[in-house]
Amino acid sequence: MRIRTSQMGVALGVALVWPALFGTDAGPGAQQGHSDHWPMLPRQAASPVVSFRDSVGPLLAENCAGCHTSGGVGSHMLELATALDAQDNARRLARAVSSGVMPPWKPGGDTPPLKHDRTLSPEERVIVQQWYEEGAGLDVEHVTPIVPPPPSGAALSRDFHYELPNVYEGTGALDDDYRCFLVDPGFTEDTYITGHEIEPDESRVVHHALVFLIGPDEGGAEEAAGLDSRDHAPGWSCFGGPGVSGAQGLIASWVPGQGATLHPGGTGYLVRAGSVLVFQVHYNYRGGVHADQSGLVLQTHSAGSDVRALSSVTMFAPVEIPCPDSLRSEPHCDRQAVINQRRIDHGFRGGLIPAFMLNRCGKEPEDFEDLDPSDVLSECDIDITEAGSLVEVGGHMHTKGKSLRVVLNPDRDDEQTLLHIPEWDFNWQGRYQYVTPIPIEVGDVVRIECRWDNARPGSTPRYHVWGEGTEDEMCLGALTVLPADPGL
Ligand code: HEC
Repeated sequence: MRIRTSQMGVALGVALVWPALFGTDAGPGAQQGHSDHWPMLPRQAASPVVSFRDSVGPLLAENCAGCHTSGGVGSHMLELATALDAQDNARRLARAVSSGVMPPWKPGGDTPPLKHDRTLSPEERVIVQQWYEEGAGLDVEHVTPIVPPPPSGAALSRDFHYELPNVYEGTGALDDDYRCFLVDPGFTEDTYITGHEIEPDESRVVHHALVFLIGPDEGGAEEAAGLDSRDHAPGWSCFGGPGVSGAQGLIASWVPGQGATLHPGGTGYLVRAGSVLVFQVHYNYRGGVHADQSGLVLQTHSAGSDVRALSSVTMFAPVEIPCPDSLRSEPHCDRQAVINQRRIDHGFRGGLIPAFMLNRCGKEPEDFEDLDPSDVLSECDIDITEAGSLVEVGGHMHTKGKSLRVVLNPDRDDEQTLLHIPEWDFNWQGRYQYVTPIPIEVGDVVRIECRWDNARPGSTPRYHVWGEGTEDEMCLGALTVLPADPGL
């Protein structure tokens, strides 16, 4: 909460600060026509010199400062607090922006329009490059601050509030620490979650956060409590997921700059009485280890209210990733040896998952044997059994992931991409809401396609099967569906 509040304070200040510092040109009137982009885009395209005051500064404030100032998640790599910081780093800025690496936004290709898309327009990309090529001049004071806008988001009714029970100080042993915290919302009756807000405390280390729903039936809450008590620090170490039974998928995700999320008009996730949540935070300590006490806010409605339940379609494809030929005689490249080891580490169930996945998708291990280890493709089709509209999409792989695609009605005339992540990056994943919901009907098919690279220089190839550990892989997709109104 601390960070959010202070960001808010600074950001509120900025509306006053920018016009004052930059003269009347940048006054509120100049922003007309750019109401959803603060501050305004350049108005002097014909001018030979790109103005920092009018173009570059506002662009950096709007698109970069949220993560690159006041200890934001990217500030250990690049601090963009003042105009002078921008000038000093002009070459890096130009490179990161013109290559499209920054701001980070992974969906691409023919993905339908998504809310909160951070991609810059071609015109915006040119601005930074041109400014750099023209000598990166400053037409403002060196100390002029670059201040991010307040996090976007809706007003939320704070019905349930969770904060880590103690500050989490990190283990110090890991640069990337995935920590899971058990959250018991104490729901004694079925409850809808209609909105959420994740409140990062220490923005220098909170890289992203996810919230998983654990159903009441399979002992997941007890398992989670057991994991939690294994060391004195709050929570437990987890990587690809919460690592407990009964996990029913993600109900919330957060990346820097994101404010509160409300589900579209009168909808929510139905959470059964006795369910628990697992709050997973990815801590990144490359800029130093800092203690954190992040929080989670939920807006809830009781099951009796006329909220419509969102449902989800879970998609998966088998994970069978062979090693390069030269290594196939190594024990860690032997499929059966890897599965036997999983049985030892994760019990009977862990050992059965690969066979279950193959079976569900009509595949055999042999189908994967001869694939190029640097480009292993797995795919699986899932039938849609309920009409409605798709409001949200997400995909999940681990670090060997290369690309991920979700397609509606593949190989049909009405084939449509639902999500395409051409360059998978484990560090930037989340759920994406469609600008316009996509209708689906009974009889439609969705296909998930995952590609992995098991021959990257510097990594040790092993045979990978499905699992939640750092050595395992996944190919998981989720669609959030607003079921068609039965009355229509
Ligand atoms: C959502 C957070 C976020 C936003 C928004 C963002 N960055 Fe970054 N940036 C990061 C993180 C985190 C890193 C560190 C590398 C990584 O994790 O990918 C980084 C790294 C960088 C680097 C260092 C790359 C290098 O090796 O030199 C540059 C330059 C950069 N960002 C520029 C920008 C610019 C310019 C913008 C706006 C157009 C921007 N960033 C927007 C989070 C962000």
